[in-house]
Amino acid sequence: MDFADDVRSGLSAPQKRLLPKYLYDDLGSALFDAITALPEYYLTNAEAEILRDHAGEIIDAVGYPVELIELGSGSAVKTRHLIDAAFVRQQTLRFCPIDISSAALDASAKALRREYPRIVVDGINAEYLSGIARLSRNGARCRLALFLGSNIGNFEPDEARSTLSALRSVLDPGDGFLLGADLKKDARTLEAAYDDPTGVTAAFSRNLLGRINRELGGRFDLSTFQHTARYNAAASRIEIRLVSTIEQDVAIDHVGIVAHFDAGEPIYTESSYKFDDASISSLAVAAGFAVTGRWTDASERFADYLLTAQS
Ligand code: AVI
Repeated sequence: MDFADDVRSGLSAPQKRLLPKYLYDDLGSALFDAITALPEYYLTNAEAEILRDHAGEIIDAVGYPVELIELGSGSAVKTRHLIDAAFVRQQTLRFCPIDISSAALDASAKALRREYPRIVVDGINAEYLSGIARLSRNGARCRLALFLGSNIGNFEPDEARSTLSALRSVLDPGDGFLLGADLKKDARTLEAAYDDPTGVTAAFSRNLLGRINRELGGRFDLSTFQHTARYNAAASRIEIRLVSTIEQDVAIDHVGIVAHFDAGEPIYTESSYKFDDASISSLAVAAGFAVTGRWTDASERFADYLLTAQS
């Protein structure tokens, strides 16, 4: 299914929804980078603190010489702590980032080769599942796959399980998988992280409608949609919606539909699941991993879990 098909089916459904993967066009990716600099969005700094303080222990726990794989690496900023720790322990390093954006992959590979003359970057330009299927092993003693930033939280539970199982099927027993996960906490902190007073997250959400206007001939008036972020504690997830503030009909010319909205009607755009040790452990076990390490930031807001592939 491409963007037009997904928009057609998502906006024709009784409960309207758009898929979060479409949030990340060039403007959306730039807005997400801005989110990571917001004081309310603690996730990025918390994980950077963990990797800055514990990268050496993580590499020691996996073993070396190691080869790194990263799902959705973007600019690989936090990954540099692990790359630095690997180079303290070995002469060369192969790094295989998988990213849907070829521009992000190229820029990141160029920067890494400049900074680390002895790195071999084998980037794979693909969505996670097809990228995982294209991974090859290249003689390293140990492999460590990275899925950082609580990106796992944007998957629905069955998608999270199938992605982890696909990854497990290309790893060998004993290989490592470092999984970054935002931890369950009070609703106030979580809702502030996803609805900041500066309005950056609202702009990030509304850009999804802007993208439909730019790419699919949509006629959305972005100012008539309100961004909302609510913590559903029973489901352990932040729920993000764009709510139409008025009754309206919106044509999307290239998709050939007119979407009707009642006043107050939402489009569900994103879930961001929150985790604890039990939920990570059951996800890991279901996909053929065991949890063998856990590191948190000093305020215990975020955790990186080391999962080891089981035979
Ligand atoms: C990319 N992902 C982990 C972000 C999150 O925290 O769920 C996406 C995001 N959406 C709104 N703010 C951040």
